[in-house]
Amino acid sequence: MPKDRTAAPAELVHLTGGGVSVLLDARGPGVPAVVHWGAALGELDEAQALAIIRASVPAVPPSSYDEPTSTTLLPEYALGWSGTPGLLGHREGADFSPLFRLRHVHRDGNTVTLDCSDDRARLLLTTRAELTEQGLLRLRHTVRNDGTQPYALQQLAAVLPIPPRAREVLDLTGRWCRERHPQRHELGQGRWAREGRHGRTGADATLLLTAGTPGFGFRHGEVWSVHLAWSGDHASWAERLPTGAATLGAAELLWPGEVRLEPGDGYTTPELFAAWSDNGLDGMSAAFHGWLRARPEHPRSPRPIVLNTWEAVYFDHDLAMLTALADAAAEVGVERFVLDDGWFRHRRNDSAGLGDWYVDEGVWPQGLHPLVDHVHERGMQFGLWVEPEMIQVDSDLYRAHPDWVLGTPGRPPPPWRQQQVLDLTRDAAFDHVLQRLDALLNEYRIDYLKWDHNRDLADAARGGESGAPAGVHAQTLATYRLLDELRRRHPGVEIESCSSGGMRVDLGILARTDRVWASDCNDALERQTIQRWTGLLLPPELVGSHVGPEHSHTTGRVHELSFRAITALFGHAGIEADITALDAGQRKQLASWIRLYKQERSLLHSGSVVRADLADPALQVHGVVAADRRRALFAFVRLATSADATTEIVLPGLDPDLQYLVQPVLDAGAASGLQRTPPPWYADGSV
Ligand code: DGJ
Repeated sequence: MPKDRTAAPAELVHLTGGGVSVLLDARGPGVPAVVHWGAALGELDEAQALAIIRASVPAVPPSSYDEPTSTTLLPEYALGWSGTPGLLGHREGADFSPLFRLRHVHRDGNTVTLDCSDDRARLLLTTRAELTEQGLLRLRHTVRNDGTQPYALQQLAAVLPIPPRAREVLDLTGRWCRERHPQRHELGQGRWAREGRHGRTGADATLLLTAGTPGFGFRHGEVWSVHLAWSGDHASWAERLPTGAATLGAAELLWPGEVRLEPGDGYTTPELFAAWSDNGLDGMSAAFHGWLRARPEHPRSPRPIVLNTWEAVYFDHDLAMLTALADAAAEVGVERFVLDDGWFRHRRNDSAGLGDWYVDEGVWPQGLHPLVDHVHERGMQFGLWVEPEMIQVDSDLYRAHPDWVLGTPGRPPPPWRQQQVLDLTRDAAFDHVLQRLDALLNEYRIDYLKWDHNRDLADAARGGESGAPAGVHAQTLATYRLLDELRRRHPGVEIESCSSGGMRVDLGILARTDRVWASDCNDALERQTIQRWTGLLLPPELVGSHVGPEHSHTTGRVHELSFRAITALFGHAGIEADITALDAGQRKQLASWIRLYKQERSLLHSGSVVRADLADPALQVHGVVAADRRRALFAFVRLATSADATTEIVLPGLDPDLQYLVQPVLDAGAASGLQRTPPPWYADGSV
């Protein structure tokens, strides 16, 4: 528990930790104002806290409301807030504009719980804010219907103020095989919103929405970032009003009628994670990485080197080939062998079978036992691919339960990869999938599930109830319940969040899974960018990263093994290629890289992730620096040709008071280059 350093009275809530302070003015009468979210303010007595509050009260501009308006934890239209309101909803048109009064403040260490009510609209609001040791603010609201009529909720947002100097916005976007690419621009007046209505997090989900001082980089500038821990529809935004007030916010996106609160019912927002740093994006990532690593559920065993069968054999499952692949994998040092899509009934290609979670008797006459045993006998873990939230028209499940498709009855949603979504909000469908997965985990020694989800939700009406209301919210919660129950029953089994590669990456799913599959693109050149930006939020040990085939299946590019291997090194590493086809020299090179990974994974998976700000967009330097800063591993990456023939290499994150020995790491093979003579340090390590 961080030391409570506030000396201010309870109504002035000063949370501090990880070099960050959040100061709330909870003196009433309304929802507390966020007076400060940023640099640590040090110990504050009452007079100092009051002085900061006074200094933060904005001026009253001409032609505006008579009283100054501060930004509160729930911006209210009733107080004249002209930006995005914190709460949207109504009772048959009434009670659309609540005005909450503060009733109770409860402080427990670095967590504060605030109870507010609007006695006229008969709504209760509970806000929980915690500042973690790493300086992350975790914020969520609950609204409860205290009236006698239902309340239709449209949106409940978590919003935080940012100062006027935060004039530049950075967010991420993408598509399949090009996930998480950055885009940035000036934050003008208005609202820059990133919305996802995919029914899953989405390839274009921003991961973090960041505002910062102009020109901020990885290692410099002041930044404020938010992330919504949610795997369904959602929005994140930055907003600047002509008054000068500016905010970052995020909320679950709800369809009309999707959340209707009966008297006594409540709705709790997904948690908003907010980070501040004056050391640029690396400082902000450090807060997220540190917090994730401190969780009790964070994977702590050495991250095993994986072989995934997908790009090696696709649907062509053959015991002899797969055992040969397992032998080759064990020989080079693989520790986890994952059997991908294609093992279950009717699944000879991607047009059939989803929902039929029984081992295919034709392809696997003795079940998966011969392969599972073979893998374990060679000292490797066994992993299995599943896609539990789906159903295909050509499946026994659909033939028995055509009504289990998530969608408007009689009007199937547009197919995607010839598949539909299974309505997990129906108890019978949920129980069926749970039972099948449970049975597989009981029958086979499965150490790991690769949990896929290969389509968006469209027209997602849930059919379990009359009227077929919108079902994205309930489906997302049902998926969480399914994962939670399986983990309860099989606590030793690790789970990967895959979703077409990288389309379900968020802290909601990561509360119940052990890594993400960052992208279906195994082209190392593309992966450099995808992993760099996935790493804004996630530390390397949570990001699956594989050596793909020499000839990339998704881009057609050809890369040498050393580049593919060094790219995969900075993640939870693995291989996804037919290594039985490699010659002895290539296998030796792969084995040498695997030895390097095993030797360095304790550093790679515990140290600080650093990324240099370089002037040349064709180059990248990234690395991991040990906690004591005595060792580090860096990758110097060329993405394209540069205008200049030579360059300066910056190694970020090192201790300026230490002298380092710089050594090239050639275990995965040397990178080819056009240098006639490498610089002197390359040969003798002296700088
Ligand atoms: C999409 C995943 O991202 C791939 O890795 C693979 O598992 C396929 N689905 C299988 O259908």
